Amino acid sequence: MRQVVLVGAGAMGRAWMDTVARRPDLRVGAVVDLSVASAQQAARERGWDVPCVATVEQALATGDRPDLLLNVTVPDAHRAVSEAALRAGVPVLSEKPVTPRVADALALAAISEQCGTLLATSQSRRHSPGLRAFRDAVAAYGGAAQLDAAFFQNPRFGGFRDEMESPLLVDMAIHTFDQARFVLGSEPESVFCDEFSPPWSWYRGGAAAHAVFRFEDGARFGYSGSWCADGLTTSWNGAWRASAAGGSVDWDGETSVRAQDGDGPVRMRQPADEPEGLDAALAEFLDALEGGPAPSGEIRSNIWSLAMVEAAVASARSGAPARFDEVFAQAAAACVESARTAGDDATADLVASWGGAPPR
Ligand SMILES: NC(=O)c1ccc[n+]([C@@H]2O[C@H](COP(=O)([O-])OP(=O)(O)OC[C@H]3O[C@@H](n4cnc5c(N)ncnc54)[C@H](O)[C@@H]3O)[C@@H](O)[C@H]2O)c1
Repeated sequence: MRQVVLVGAGAMGRAWMDTVARRPDLRVGAVVDLSVASAQQAARERGWDVPCVATVEQALATGDRPDLLLNVTVPDAHRAVSEAALRAGVPVLSEKPVTPRVADALALAAISEQCGTLLATSQSRRHSPGLRAFRDAVAAYGGAAQLDAAFFQNPRFGGFRDEMESPLLVDMAIHTFDQARFVLGSEPESVFCDEFSPPWSWYRGGAAAHAVFRFEDGARFGYSGSWCADGLTTSWNGAWRASAAGGSVDWDGETSVRAQDGDGPVRMRQPADEPEGLDAALAEFLDALEGGPAPSGEIRSNIWSLAMVEAAVASARSGAPARFDEVFAQAAAACVESARTAGDDATADLVASWGGAPPR
């Protein structure tokens, strides 16, 4: 039985509590939230008699060392919460984004390496049977040279997303970008992104964008998205199409995966019946703790999905393409400077030795 500390008892934290509760091999040892009342209520609703505290430090100071920590706080709190756990030797599975900035993600990658403690991000939409069937069909045709995803939704969230400068790119697009890395099995090299605000948009910031990424293997990934598109909305996974040497494949973002080679018959690919979303992300993480392979959201890999967001935003602001080596170099310089200022020479030295993205 592994003991879990769950930090962040908001909407997603509660979804994680229910995910943990479905596992017979996990037990929640403490719930942490700045609002202790929220933590207590969430625990009470589940019939859990566990300590509820306000800070991760309090949770780590009481009782035995937990086996893992789930970081489901707001993005701006991710770095501090994950860092405290890693420094205490507690592996962390964090909600996306691992941090809002690549510079902070580099610091976390370095701290994870120094402490020898696993840090991974849960990119729940990567764990979709439909996406896996799509990727496998694309691979069977020789791999995509041209990949496109269309994401059109119209949520009326209210709250912080309505006020953000780049709500679509910063809060949502990381899912689609991460899925593209999964399908292509390659890393991005450069991006040109045009972000804008349709006249009828109800967001303050740019809620629509077109972006073209160039990947290291030469593939192009085109993204078109909007969060203010009334009518004919796509799946929250987007609608996908890939062109490969052997044929083309599309995916409606749910369960329909179609493949056609030349003028041959259209073949339906049946997604496997397997765990998805949070359950799959957690299973993969626990498997790694048992000595299995690194989870697909391990920080040194997942940082590329975060960099896709940062590079797209940089391109949208400058009006010019952004190169990933430059995005990483700037982030590394900022990380080294702030680590030195904080007196953390070990982190500064390690990130300086990378000079950019962590070694793969
Ligand atoms: N994978 C997905 O599909 C998906 C969907 C929604 C949200 N998310 C992510 O989940 C995370 C949480 O989102 P949410 O919608 O639950 O937010 P929320 O605002 O509902 O809840 C966040 C909770 O964290 C608490 N908190 C903030 N700072 C804290 C700190 N330092 N220590 C302890 N508690 C702290 C807040 O009090 C709040 O209760 C975000 O990173 C978000 O991007 C992911």
